[in-house]
Amino acid sequence: MVKCDILIIGGGLAGLSAALKIPQELDTIVISKVHPLRSHSGAAQGGLNAALANHPEGKHDSWELHAFDTIKGSDYLADQNAVELMCKEAIPTIYELEHLGAPFSRFPDGTIAQRPFGGGEFPRTCYAADRTGLVLLHTLYEQCIRRNVKFLDEWLVSKLVIKNNRCLGVIAIELASGKVVPIKAKAVIFATGGYGRVYLRTTNAYINQGSGIGIAYRAGIPLKDMEFVQFHPTSLHRTNILITEGARGEGGYLINKEGRRFMEDYAPHAMELAPRDIVARAIQKEIEEGRGINDEYVYLDLRHLGAEKIMKRLPGIREIALNFAGIDPIEAPIPIQPAQHYSMGGIDVNEKCETVVPGVYAAGECACVSVHGANRLGGNSLLETIVFGKIAGREASKYVREGYIDFKSDRELNESAKEIEEKIKVWMSRTSGTRAHELLNKLKAITTEKVGIFRNGKDLSYALETIRQLREDYKKAYLGSPNLKFSQELINIIEFELMLDLAEIITLGALNRTETRGSHYRRDFKERNDKEWLKHTIVIYTDKGPKISYKEVIITKYKPAKREY
Ligand code: FUM
Repeated sequence: MVKCDILIIGGGLAGLSAALKIPQELDTIVISKVHPLRSHSGAAQGGLNAALANHPEGKHDSWELHAFDTIKGSDYLADQNAVELMCKEAIPTIYELEHLGAPFSRFPDGTIAQRPFGGGEFPRTCYAADRTGLVLLHTLYEQCIRRNVKFLDEWLVSKLVIKNNRCLGVIAIELASGKVVPIKAKAVIFATGGYGRVYLRTTNAYINQGSGIGIAYRAGIPLKDMEFVQFHPTSLHRTNILITEGARGEGGYLINKEGRRFMEDYAPHAMELAPRDIVARAIQKEIEEGRGINDEYVYLDLRHLGAEKIMKRLPGIREIALNFAGIDPIEAPIPIQPAQHYSMGGIDVNEKCETVVPGVYAAGECACVSVHGANRLGGNSLLETIVFGKIAGREASKYVREGYIDFKSDRELNESAKEIEEKIKVWMSRTSGTRAHELLNKLKAITTEKVGIFRNGKDLSYALETIRQLREDYKKAYLGSPNLKFSQELINIIEFELMLDLAEIITLGALNRTETRGSHYRRDFKERNDKEWLKHTIVIYTDKGPKISYKEVIITKYKPAKREY
């Protein structure tokens, strides 16, 4: 059995930020499915928001205006106290990152450069060319190494063990050996990222199967607002690699097959820099109504920016377009289509990152504080990972020092580990049935087709039925290979059950929410309905299936109003 004071699940930005805030005398382990530098945070391109007021057009910016833009962008579903906290903290957080060594791009006067992003009144997105996530990940990882943070790389956590509403630890699998290992921890921080791979078309890495959220749910921790799924407007046609919003921030145009900047029909003032839900829907509509190219994509045109700007501000985008589409954006427009990008919902936590179980915390994309409500603004995700990662680290440390009560938990942990070993034996003993990757492909097809950008009751009911049928098929799942060392099949079979849970909850929440709000667009209920639906969806696991209830949205000073861009 492995033992520690604080176990952080996930080596991305939220996990590393948490690790850096835990005093060195506490025994901390970061456990991660991949090497931390391969975490999906490294794929984040455009930047993170903070009202530094460095941009010549942003001199009057303030954290309050950042908060207002975030709340308006969220379609008023975000908890306003949490948004205020994040936007206020954003400013010192950027300088802290700078002091830790993050190589931000600079304006000629030496200040940190900022660019416009969707839904922001002022240009407030701080960036490092178009590789912001990658440089932050390297910066924080270096700092963790400097402070001797312990890492367990390439381990899959498969269960959270809770007894009498207290955290005992987790059960994990060492991927190199396939061995099941109990880990006793006084506090656990989930920093496991999103569930993008529940969808077929996604900007997310293969690792983003959402199992962290699923594990918390199975352990009885409520999930919040799972029906709100963000589709990024611009992913590269076919591969769905992210093409940063920063490209539009730098002045890129969206054009349809007639060569027209169609955003003037959808957001005449903000145009390409309207919030993502609006831009993604506009692109999808253009495609559905025959104004896309080959009925599949539209163009992101950067040519007018010129070679110098493209190479300086968007070098990674040029490389992606060249390497994965054979197109040089200096000379030709980039074919793009919307793709799943972000999970607004997640593990229900308060602004201290606390779940309902003492000793269990969550931060970053796997958590729902909620600072994004029904639609996240670009540039607020990296910010959330750092701000709330830090808070989770601090709060977990405080709990371990002041609130933790020791339990004799070795027996429970060993028993839980045995249960997982037994499950694996059953999968290995079968020689026929269904394979997890085949079921996964079916699941992805149904979510993408029926629980996507545009939704309606009929499609959602059909999706729910199909997901429940897949659950039956999963009962016959088997492992085709007896080799458990670095077995992707083992990972898939374990994570698939949790992905089914997530897909079911997303669909159920979407079916119940008979209104349109932010990313959740119902063709059969096209209006936002504050009277009945200005509330968070809460889902709890029961043996009979997900149980839904609702929770009030915290409003401070920003009264819900119609969104216009
Ligand atoms: O478009 C982007 O660079 C993505 C940023 C984000 O999701 O915040």
